[in-house]
Amino acid sequence: MPFRANLCFAATLMLGLSGMTMSAHAQAPGNSSAAVEQRADHLLAEMSTQEKIGQLSQLFYFGPNVKIPGFDSGPSMETQIAKGEVGSLLFITDPATINRLQKIAVQDSPHHIPLIFGFDVIHGLRTIFPVPLAQAASWDPAMVSRDQSIAAMEARSVGIDWAFAPMVDIARDPRWGRMVEGAGADPYLGAAMAAAQVRGFQGAYPGAPNHILACAKHFAGYGAAEGGRDYDASYISDSQLWNVYLPPFHAAVKAGVATLMSAYMDLNDVPATGNQWLLQDVLRKDWKFHGYVVSDANAVRNLQTHGFAKDQEDAAVRAFKAGVNMEMAIGQTAYDAELSKALQQGLITSQQLDDAVRPILEMKMRLGLFEHPYVDVARSEHVLADPAHRTAARIAAERSAVLLRNNDGLLPLHKGSYHNIAVIGPLADSQRDTLGPWTFDENLNEAVTVLQGLRNAFGASATITYAPGAQMHRKFPSMFDALDRGKKPPVWTPAQARQQMQQAVAIAQKSDLVVMVLGEHQNMSGEAASSDSLKLPGDQQQLLQSVAATGKPLVLILMNGRPLNIKWADRHVPAILDVWYPGSQGGNAVANLLLGKAVPGGKLPFDWPRDVGQVPIPYAHNLTHEPQNQARRYWDEASTPLYPFGYGLSYTTFAFSHLHIDKSIISRGEDVHVSVNVTNTGKLAGDEVAQLYTHQEYGNASRPVRELKGFERITLQPGQTETVQFTLGKEQLQYWSQALHGWTYDPSTYDVWVGGDSTASLHTKFAVTP
Ligand code: NOJ
Repeated sequence: MPFRANLCFAATLMLGLSGMTMSAHAQAPGNSSAAVEQRADHLLAEMSTQEKIGQLSQLFYFGPNVKIPGFDSGPSMETQIAKGEVGSLLFITDPATINRLQKIAVQDSPHHIPLIFGFDVIHGLRTIFPVPLAQAASWDPAMVSRDQSIAAMEARSVGIDWAFAPMVDIARDPRWGRMVEGAGADPYLGAAMAAAQVRGFQGAYPGAPNHILACAKHFAGYGAAEGGRDYDASYISDSQLWNVYLPPFHAAVKAGVATLMSAYMDLNDVPATGNQWLLQDVLRKDWKFHGYVVSDANAVRNLQTHGFAKDQEDAAVRAFKAGVNMEMAIGQTAYDAELSKALQQGLITSQQLDDAVRPILEMKMRLGLFEHPYVDVARSEHVLADPAHRTAARIAAERSAVLLRNNDGLLPLHKGSYHNIAVIGPLADSQRDTLGPWTFDENLNEAVTVLQGLRNAFGASATITYAPGAQMHRKFPSMFDALDRGKKPPVWTPAQARQQMQQAVAIAQKSDLVVMVLGEHQNMSGEAASSDSLKLPGDQQQLLQSVAATGKPLVLILMNGRPLNIKWADRHVPAILDVWYPGSQGGNAVANLLLGKAVPGGKLPFDWPRDVGQVPIPYAHNLTHEPQNQARRYWDEASTPLYPFGYGLSYTTFAFSHLHIDKSIISRGEDVHVSVNVTNTGKLAGDEVAQLYTHQEYGNASRPVRELKGFERITLQPGQTETVQFTLGKEQLQYWSQALHGWTYDPSTYDVWVGGDSTASLHTKFAVTP
């Protein structure tokens, strides 16, 4: 969310933000590509220039009485819709409001073209799933697809036709707050999650019933912001761009994503929103994308702020010509203000205008909005209340959790062994934090905290006592503060803080088990939530150490959207479970995990740094001078991550064996098939993620020491063995080489490792002949 409004304004926005929707839009008959194109062409032939430009304008709508500073004297939204001057609205979740505004478009606008309603459906609408970073940690694309299809169904039920998701930005710098919204640091895992989410949101095709359009964002390179500072410029080499940052976008396009969002920042000094190379050469010419591109909010006007465009007209023309079909803005779009003049001056052509509008009309047709513009408010309430959605959210939270440490088998807990449990930490009973960032339409009362989840699970068998023990605060307010439904706890005085900590230690002393829930408030991750440190904020580290000093059995639950510095905990706390921001059912999921009703099987989607100074620390780095000292690049700390990419423990154990490759030499037209046996060698059923990594030994560029090229999450009963198969060929082994300035698939020798994380040792190799 982009607005920099004053608090008073933002508070007023709240009024317009309650709500929900739905209608089972039947697939409009005759929705073949040719039929839709023909319909769109007929409509275009009748539309006025102003109406066409209207279709390119997307505006935030915060309610009839909300005046937007700087835009408060213009025509009302209703008037603009009636004149056909706006094609899309965002940030409305109330179905009645959606119906009311849609009716104006359908009945009063010159050609009765329905609006398309967009919203940030990032990890659920009413049912909140774990944050996307957590979903990626499940390494379970099928589950991710199912969960986003539930999010889509809820959204569609309230009249939202379009999610501004998935965010597919690769994030290798956890200072960047938006890491929480993506799939982490790896292009292969990122591509799998991107495609899975697109399929989940959109279903079999854009416009499928009960589904919505997806939007892969932020195209491209947003995750590489300098210093991890949100919105700051990215400087990315061609090689990194093609091999690391672009693959998830390409995967989304290949999965049929209907729309993309252009990013805010400068990419190698050219703003992404005015970047013809990205939006035309890569996206349309190379990848053959036929949907439409929306700008990020106010990003078109920003072209002037960047010192790229001369004035607003130049900004509008350059974004338009670069390939931004629709402009998202607050108040008025630069397109609305400038494009008609630009057309008269010959700066753009009417053919270009038609080409920009056509895919927007086509998507509205595919969605069936012309035939079924309204939603059924009563139905939406049933869809939003569906208990099956909450069950899916709980399972997702269970499958996303990553067990980082479990010394002496402290977990799973045996219910009968603990009668006096201390639950400690500022996040243990925070409903809002349990949900994570990017939720606006949740029912906060429904969110199950860890404290509540443990109380549900232990019932009368244990006395559970709670103390927050510590507080943490943002130094600068969050842009979302005024929209947030969470209660802000009062700020403690230093004396109160001391007393709270003592109280927490006191309840720990009286307990036979301590569960601490530490991490970051949800508003410390997300947009405009970058951090210059990975420390546990506030007094949490001190609290942790004081509680650990009681010597009681201690389980640390982490809630976080980025890796934190937990070096001390890694040495002193026996059990650490990362549950990220686990969503509506988080507390019940955590209780199930702690009690062994669910067995942790999630794996890290990034390398967990020891401290902020190591950032970035991808496992997929090149091997260079003195590789024997790879772990000693710093004099004061190991230069390995605290936990490697792909890592995560279970309550059971697994062994990999019988690594087999069907050919040791292949030509470039062939594939090799790799198989491996995975055996559950422990006493509980559990999940393992078989991961395959490759390394190209020589070629047209130096290649990373390891790269993920295949994975599969499987469930195994104790003693059970399953054979997992992988295929390797051109698709997995080609890469973009700076030396050739293009794609290459090199004859070379390729190492293969398979195992349960990126340090896997089971090895084989094969050669690709010229
Ligand atoms: C700005 C964010 O960068 C983008 O991700 C979001 O979709 C829009 N605002 C709309 O809220």
